[in-house]
Amino acid sequence: MLWRAAWLDGHTGHVPDELMKARGPEHFSVHAEKFVGSTIVATDDDELLGLVVLAEDTGEVVQLAVDRAARGFGVGGALLRCAEERLSGRHRKAHLAVVPGNTRARRFYEFHGWRDEGPTVYRAPSTAGPIEVPVHRYTQVLG
Ligand SMILES: CC(C)(COP(=O)(O)OP(=O)(O)OC[C@H]1O[C@@H](n2cnc3c(N)ncnc32)[C@H](O)[C@@H]1OP(=O)(O)O)[C@@H](O)C(=O)NCCC(=O)NCCS
Repeated sequence: MLWRAAWLDGHTGHVPDELMKARGPEHFSVHAEKFVGSTIVATDDDELLGLVVLAEDTGEVVQLAVDRAARGFGVGGALLRCAEERLSGRHRKAHLAVVPGNTRARRFYEFHGWRDEGPTVYRAPSTAGPIEVPVHRYTQVLG
């Protein structure tokens, strides 16, 4: 699944082992279904290139994932702009969490005008209860 493969690219080696163990294929299947109404996808004909998952009630960009072969062509940027537009009706600011070691994603968000508000702890959901993960909180003022 695209979402899990991209998540592994961004998180392997940068998060606690407990979180790695909790992020098997079933986690992504359950969450893909849970967030289906607030997921924006990028496609090329029938091919899925990427997706962005939103929590529209809180203004959070939950996940942004682009297929490895499609990276570097603007798909992530286009998805992020769509996410910002969708959230701007309901929120003044959007926010997201990035693990400190995911330097590619951090560069990407900063290039798109997101502000690093510094380190915090993200309570990542899992079937055994939330797992505390050190992250950086990024925010974007919405137009
Ligand atoms: C992060 C991610 C979503 C970016 O998607 P993408 O489709 O490659 O993004 P884009 O093509 O729109 O932009 C990517 C590049 O544009 C950069 N960029 C674009 N124009 C630029 C410019 N003029 N100057 C500097 N940087 C520029 C970004 O920083 C990034 O550079 P790099 O990856 O080569 O260092 C993708 O790499 C991914 O899925 N990663 C794995 C999952 C992940 O980490 N998700 C985020 C979790 S919080």
